[in-house]
Amino acid sequence: MTAERRRPVVAANWKMNFLKADAAEYCRTLRRHLAAMGTPARTVVFPSFPLLPMVARELVATEVAVGGQDLHPEDRGAFTGDVSGRQLSDAGCSWALCGHSERRRDHHESDDLVGRKVAAAERCGLTALLCVGESREQRRAGRALQVLERQLRAGLAARPESFAVAYEPVWAIGTGETATPAAAQEAHEHLRRVLAELMGEEIAAVAPILYGGSVTPETAAGLIAEPDVDGFLVGGASLDPQKFLAIIRHSG
Ligand code: PGA
Repeated sequence: MTAERRRPVVAANWKMNFLKADAAEYCRTLRRHLAAMGTPARTVVFPSFPLLPMVARELVATEVAVGGQDLHPEDRGAFTGDVSGRQLSDAGCSWALCGHSERRRDHHESDDLVGRKVAAAERCGLTALLCVGESREQRRAGRALQVLERQLRAGLAARPESFAVAYEPVWAIGTGETATPAAAQEAHEHLRRVLAELMGEEIAAVAPILYGGSVTPETAAGLIAEPDVDGFLVGGASLDPQKFLAIIRHSG
């Protein structure tokens, strides 16, 4: 199946940015422009936890979905500071980021834990956006594809029905150094091949595989032209709604 038959997904990872007023203004801008554009791509925003109910309210009855940046693998209990999939869903989310490299790095999230988070997302009716990506050292050592395969297999161990994958090379995140379209395509093609082994050809053919790592309106068009690049997970550039909209426009 070719990329033409997979509707692009463009997601904004706001990380630990924005207060309520900025977020509300952002949502209004998005609403206004996306209505005029006819929403060429599936759009998702990932705000910080305290903003979720408000953002979900602002974007209700639009085609923009809302997701949590993380979730706990358990559905409830004594886990101070954590948020469950049920709580995300209750706050108006339909997506959850799982295994972002900043969580793997700063919170020592293992492949196994990420797999359990994906399972929790599925259980709570959320679409998991599983992030995988190699470090610069791993790439230099020629191990990039092997690392991606390991992370993908562990992340999807629960065989979720509703998921997407984001290829986010760690060396490209927040560095201004975007992967070349050819490098992204090589990784995406490999991920799709492993997906076919894991879940079957049919699922692999329709599963969205997004690219993330210093995506800008300037780099988006070249990347989306690759057959296995189905959209983007955008960090820095997504903080400017006009840049995020431009990336959506390039992806449609
Ligand atoms: P970036 O972040 O676009 O700022 O590189 C991407 C991400 O971390 O998801």
